Amino acid sequence: MKGWSLPTAAAVVAATIFFSLSTMALPAASAIVEHTFVVNQMNMTHLCKETLVTVVNGQVPGPTIEVTEGDSVTIHVVNKSPHNITIHWHGVKQRRNCWNDGVPMVTQCPIQPDQNFTYRFSVAGQEGTLWWHAHVSCLRATLHGAIIIRPRLGASSYPFPKPDREIPFIIGDWWAMDLAAVARRMKQDNFFDYFPSASTINGKLGDLFNCSGVAEDGFVLDVEPGKTYLLRIINTALFSEYFLKIAGHKFTVVASDANYVRPYTTDLVVIAPGETIDALVVADAAPGKYYMVAMPNQAPLPDTQTPEPSTRGMMQYSSSSRPGNGAPVAPVMPDQHDVVQSFYFHSNLSSLRHPRHPLAPVPKRVDEHLFITLGLGIACRRGLNCDREDEKENILVATMNNISFLQPTAPLLAAHYYHVGANKDELQELPDKPPKVFNFTDPSLIPIGPKEKALERTYVATLARWFRYGSVVEMVFQSTSIMQGDSNPMHLHGHDMFVLAQGLGNFDAAKDRARYNLVDPPLKNTVVVPNLGWVAIRFVADNPGVWYMHCHFEFHLSMGMTAVFIVEDGPTVNTSLPAPPVDFPSCGRKDNLVPDEFYLQTQEITASRIDGV
Ligand SMILES: *[C@@H]1O[C@H](CO)[C@@H](O)[C@H](O)[C@H]1NC(C)=O
Ligand SMILES: *[C@@H]1O[C@H](CO)[C@@H](O)[C@H](O)[C@H]1NC(C)=O
Ligand SMILES: *[C@@H]1O[C@H](CO)[C@@H](O)[C@H](O)[C@H]1NC(C)=O
Ligand SMILES: *[C@@H]1O[C@H](CO)[C@@H](O)[C@H](O)[C@H]1NC(C)=O
Ligand SMILES: *[C@@H]1O[C@H](CO)[C@@H](O)[C@H](O)[C@H]1NC(C)=O
Ligand SMILES: *[C@@H]1O[C@H](CO)[C@@H](O)[C@H](O)[C@H]1NC(C)=O
Ligand SMILES: *[C@@H]1O[C@H](CO)[C@@H](O)[C@H](O)[C@H]1NC(C)=O
Ligand SMILES: *[C@@H]1O[C@H](CO)[C@@H](O)[C@H](O)[C@H]1NC(C)=O
Repeated sequence: MKGWSLPTAAAVVAATIFFSLSTMALPAASAIVEHTFVVNQMNMTHLCKETLVTVVNGQVPGPTIEVTEGDSVTIHVVNKSPHNITIHWHGVKQRRNCWNDGVPMVTQCPIQPDQNFTYRFSVAGQEGTLWWHAHVSCLRATLHGAIIIRPRLGASSYPFPKPDREIPFIIGDWWAMDLAAVARRMKQDNFFDYFPSASTINGKLGDLFNCSGVAEDGFVLDVEPGKTYLLRIINTALFSEYFLKIAGHKFTVVASDANYVRPYTTDLVVIAPGETIDALVVADAAPGKYYMVAMPNQAPLPDTQTPEPSTRGMMQYSSSSRPGNGAPVAPVMPDQHDVVQSFYFHSNLSSLRHPRHPLAPVPKRVDEHLFITLGLGIACRRGLNCDREDEKENILVATMNNISFLQPTAPLLAAHYYHVGANKDELQELPDKPPKVFNFTDPSLIPIGPKEKALERTYVATLARWFRYGSVVEMVFQSTSIMQGDSNPMHLHGHDMFVLAQGLGNFDAAKDRARYNLVDPPLKNTVVVPNLGWVAIRFVADNPGVWYMHCHFEFHLSMGMTAVFIVEDGPTVNTSLPAPPVDFPSCGRKDNLVPDEFYLQTQEITASRIDGV
């Protein structure tokens, strides 16, 4: 056991140099944008029920962070809630700044009640919409907000017609249940009787929801004829992908995950948790009122069907434009089960070719190939016999290559940086491929039965994969049909991924590699692996640190569909991770010593996994 202490003055200097280097290359002076986030609890009443929720600065959604490309961002988080909190800056690349990525027990000890921590990061080289959220199971349903990064040369330099207004458009879900209790149950229970009570647009439930006949407030977008609106759409929901339509109007999708895309016109936007979609909407219909409907999609039978309600807001032409006196027009929505629409929508995205935004070249040489199956499984509770028929002996988990993630008990990044604890013997290496080849997308594996039971047994370990600095990694994510047919929105921290191809059914290397788009694939931080389908991506592991890689459905994440990617330092100072911030939170252990039991590698569920953070 080796002791380690938190940073020295040198660390501060290194961090300062990093920030000035990253801003020096920019044409105009970049600013430091500063916010204070007070995390607090408050009661909110919806559907005639008062619910205690955890929020930032008393609002849901939380404050929007508006910045210009190249700015530095400083956020003072003051935790006045009874929960351990971290905030993740979703999609911010955090180059050489993994310490500020905000993942409990991966990049940091959480900010404990009555403590505070200041996150510092830069938004260089990214333009568009990202978001922030608590990386604390389920609490993020009310702890999130938008990050808007505008071009340094101003709105007239957008690679699309300058919009007259820009509107954050946050799709979420509202839970009348106590989310801390839901989080515990996602980890411990095999019973899924918890569901969101409603869907929301910008925190409003809308008039499809009422109690005692009084409709909930809805989001209203007032428009003027002929004007153009940029909707910055974010899916912050815990539970579902959404179909979004506006009656009588079309969207022109111009960006996703803070990367510009070739403009794509469609009347349907499909957005999974973790994704952002920037879309222009022109008010070019007859003046009147038009519903904007966000409908959760749902894998069809034989998947378990759960209540997943739609929400609606309204696009309303200004009164000066003599609105028609008819009732609001409603869009014709796809069938809730028509999940192939998500596959079509995402397949239609490609990167924008533009003089100010040269296409990022897709690396041709690949150093590592991974094939990762995503699915559910059954793990054994500690010390029990794992009698399949006994609920108490087993636990439902989610897996990658047939292993479910075990929450570490001390932060992996510090262990990696100080070379203590986390070494290759203590973590479980994410294998290159799944242990068994079977018909991954056979729908007859969805209902529990003998065929499914032969595949469901799995185990729990802290899954990690090491990458040499600068490695080019190709990954194929394959959804599987064990007990469910869900899609999987896979989010990689600290890197964007080129989405080379996607398909339905099983990936077939011989046939499908030939279909890769190596010219203008979209760059995403969250890729949607279609229901009973696959996605192929490439990324360059050039950001040293320990990065979370996980499904953004909260139940999949809580149940273990997670791994960490450990990107080693490069050969020089500017390719290595600097020391942690001076005021970095500690886990409250005496002297910050790393305990002997730093990592548990286990074939069983342990108490730490059950308790979580
Ligand atoms: C929420 O409401 C409960 C019951 O009405 C009350 O006891 C509690 O103090 C309230 N909490 C907050 C943070 O307002
Ligand atoms: C943050 O914590 C420090 C040390 O615990 C304390 O001195 C300071 O007052 C706190 N700041 C806020 C805004 O609560
Ligand atoms: C209230 O909601 C119910 C079902 O959720 C619906 O049948 C009813 O029409 C709604 N009432 C009003 C006044 O909107
Ligand atoms: C693009 O979208 C259209 C309309 O939804 C669909 O017909 C088409 O198949 C999609 N393209 C791809 C490559 O999936
Ligand atoms: C997998 O199962 C599906 C559905 O039963 C079937 O259509 C397909 O042919 C199977 N694929 C293979 C490779 O066996
Ligand atoms: C996972 O591994 C276990 C053995 O450890 C095996 O029984 C099971 O069939 C495997 N499942 C899959 C989907 O590979
Ligand atoms: C690191 O510095 C070297 C020499 O100054 C430079 O050539 C290289 O591009 C830098 N690398 C990165 C990733 O910034
Ligand atoms: C909060 O985090 C600390 C440090 O990791 C841990 O000791 C404590 O049990 C956590 N508290 C809760 C309520 O999870």
